[in-house]
Amino acid sequence: MTGKPTLHPTPWQDEISELIAGYKRGYALAQPFYTSEAVFQRDVDRVFLKEWHLVGHVSELPEPGDYLLFELLGESVIVVRNREGAFHALANVCRHRGSRVCLEPRGNVSRFSCPYHAWVYNLDGSLFSARLMGADTDKNSLGLKRFAIEVFHGLIYVCFSDRPEDFSTARTMLEPMVAPFGLVRTRIAARTSYPVAANWKLLVENYNECYHCTAAHPEFSRSHVIHLPERLYEPLNAKVGARAAGTGAPADRLDATGPNKPKGAIDIYYRRYALFDGYETGSEDGKPLAPLLGDLSGWDSAASDIYVGILNPMLVYSDHAVIYRFIPVDKDNSIQEIIWLVHEDAVEGRDYDKDRLTWLWDVTTESDKLIIEKNQEGVNSRFYEPGPFSPMESHTRWFVESYLRTIA
Ligand code: FES
Ligand code: FE
Repeated sequence: MTGKPTLHPTPWQDEISELIAGYKRGYALAQPFYTSEAVFQRDVDRVFLKEWHLVGHVSELPEPGDYLLFELLGESVIVVRNREGAFHALANVCRHRGSRVCLEPRGNVSRFSCPYHAWVYNLDGSLFSARLMGADTDKNSLGLKRFAIEVFHGLIYVCFSDRPEDFSTARTMLEPMVAPFGLVRTRIAARTSYPVAANWKLLVENYNECYHCTAAHPEFSRSHVIHLPERLYEPLNAKVGARAAGTGAPADRLDATGPNKPKGAIDIYYRRYALFDGYETGSEDGKPLAPLLGDLSGWDSAASDIYVGILNPMLVYSDHAVIYRFIPVDKDNSIQEIIWLVHEDAVEGRDYDKDRLTWLWDVTTESDKLIIEKNQEGVNSRFYEPGPFSPMESHTRWFVESYLRTIA
């Protein structure tokens, strides 16, 4: 036989291409996007192994040798601070015969020692020693594999891809908006995981629209104007600029997501929007929850929607930040993780009450968990047929279209 073998697409490649080709613009996705194992595997390859993931905050790793494990879809990554203060993201896979090197989820080490045959690695992943190996062992080629890592205002992001989306636009374009909040000078006040029996896309779709907020989130809707149709909330938002400027909070808008972003760059978004009168922050009673963030000089009764990548949205009030992480478990299950940040000097019990701080996004996420799971149950039905998006679901529509381009 001569010549190259002909490559035939596998059946599931055909299936996914047909699904994408059959998508009706302006409508929800067809059932297999939420139920097919082949689609989920494509999501893993094209989305989760390519996107940047927020894995933690620098305040979790203050000392040289401090590390934490970032675990996703069976992979384990050691995120560690080295002696010079820089961070590394290392595959937790020994270069000898593949054992996990690091077993504890958090800790402090001077070096990593594999529990199997005791190869030892430096904090930058390079191989320090390999006991009883021959003199011809090439130690230089046997370091732990490294992943791309970026630290942006104290937030640590990791990407599995060796050609990650460019982070530099996020640095230059988002810098003036994010800097006044001093996120590098915050710490994690609370962190909660909500298991959701649904495909990860239903979580992201839900987060990206507030068409459901009036019905599902009375607690959120009485303080945040964003649940209103645009023609109603825009007049309320018109006052935010002056209010924000008075406190040092940026009120500019930036949308560099989907088709608006520079080619090869990470998705970024910034917008500060109004809270209703009487609400200085996202609290139950409208009153402040914690000391002001960063350089702010007062409460402007507003919140900033910020995206650094599609999987890491956050909401920044004047006195705290709330970070969302969408974590896939398998095609039918996900975890919604929420991280609350407060000023690094804020002391629990003295400067803030944890239950008050977390109240809004806890009740809101519990409600979302329920509606997303009921969404999945309906989507699983033999009678499910995708319906049209409303104008208030424009961001969800953007996500769906952007997702289809990503997996195509
Ligand atoms: Fe790690 Fe052998 S597998 S030292
Ligand atoms: Fe919601």
